Amino acid sequence: MKLMVVGGGGREHAIIKKLKESKKVEKIYALPGNGGIARDAECVNIAATDIPKIVDFAEKTKIDFAVVAPDDPLVLGAVDALEDIGIPCFGPHANAAIIEGSKVFSKNLMKSFDIPTAKYEVFDDMKKALEYVKTAPIPTVIKADGLALGKGVIIAETREDAEKAVRSMMEDKIFGESGSKVVIEEFLTGPEVSVLSFTDGKTVIPMISSMDHKRALDGDKGLNTGGMGTVAPNPYYTDEVAKECMEKIFLPTINAMSSLGRPFKGCLYFGLMITADGPKVIEYNCRFGDPETQVVLPLLESDLFEIMQATAEGRLSEIEVKFSKKNACCVVLASNGYPKAYEKGFEIKIGEIADNADFYIAGAKLENGKLLTNGGRVLNVVAKADTLEEAIKDAYKASENITFENAYCRKDIGQRALKALV
Ligand code: AMP
Ligand code: GLY
Repeated sequence: MKLMVVGGGGREHAIIKKLKESKKVEKIYALPGNGGIARDAECVNIAATDIPKIVDFAEKTKIDFAVVAPDDPLVLGAVDALEDIGIPCFGPHANAAIIEGSKVFSKNLMKSFDIPTAKYEVFDDMKKALEYVKTAPIPTVIKADGLALGKGVIIAETREDAEKAVRSMMEDKIFGESGSKVVIEEFLTGPEVSVLSFTDGKTVIPMISSMDHKRALDGDKGLNTGGMGTVAPNPYYTDEVAKECMEKIFLPTINAMSSLGRPFKGCLYFGLMITADGPKVIEYNCRFGDPETQVVLPLLESDLFEIMQATAEGRLSEIEVKFSKKNACCVVLASNGYPKAYEKGFEIKIGEIADNADFYIAGAKLENGKLLTNGGRVLNVVAKADTLEEAIKDAYKASENITFENAYCRKDIGQRALKALV
């Protein structure tokens, strides 16, 4: 089988490495991929959002199966366009990807179908939004309706900050048209859990749970980032919590989408908070998480391609999805300065990697045979071990053998999870 993976970050590298383990997979193209992914797939210089070029390439190359990984091409209808020319895909249609593409859609979905989430109001008129934050409970959470590179959420600790956040989204349009509508919601507290799931619109199979570390600095301080590290499984996601999530969140969400004529097939990501009132949905993503995928897929023991094919064909109920009992830890090596300004172009040197470790390249390019840094989040180092403590230790140890100038990583990935275990 000839596969095409749309996307070009660490998540896509992890997907490609796992797909390569399948006996059925002969060749993988990555669009656009990156200099590190080029070790494992043939990279084709087509942007992940350039749907006409993606379709053209897939047709000419006679691709047998496509995986569309990032949110923007999914929301823009890449799967619809590829299926129109007869190429089976893993990923939702645009009418289901809206579950991430519009927060107003997803909040209204949860309200209509009684799926637990934070209380909220929607505004398309800035004056009304400003009026509302004058009396809203503080802290309050302000979210741009549309996609905003994972940065469209502002937690306002004071009324002044809430007003500023509303103005920045609705007047200054810091997230462009994504901020034309905003959701203002109740601030919830509790540990966060990410659960990625395979679903074909009828069956939902949660993958092993994970924990992201979104802030740039140790101790969960500093700016929000795309994610500085992950561990799996997440100790807060007990069997009891998992059961409650399946009954109150996962199945109701899948059934709600199907009942609206928007069956979701692909990977549905549940961003959850375990509050004193039980698990609640913080966000849905219409795709694999990054860097959650980098700890979840290494623990997958079943054939990823077979699962993806079954998902696309609506026969997920026939498939067994098995995960290892081990723990995994992923440390993101970033360019110093990320998520603000940072330098690029430093050579990445990769030394020996232990048997229980691996790495995925997120932001790098190949130039004259050298791998050079080319992004904020440069690469992900992952280790697997019997205990979480060992997985953390081994991921940090492995990260010492991959070096580049100006490298930065958080030193406390997994420490919060370890505390939950004592
Ligand atoms: P999101 O981009 O929706 O994942 O939001 C980014 C982060 O903001 C989440 O991971 C949470 O830590 C936080 N957040 C979002 N919504 C809420 C909420 N209602 N209450 C508390 N924290 C929230
Ligand atoms: N790690 C969070 C996300 O993928 O949205």
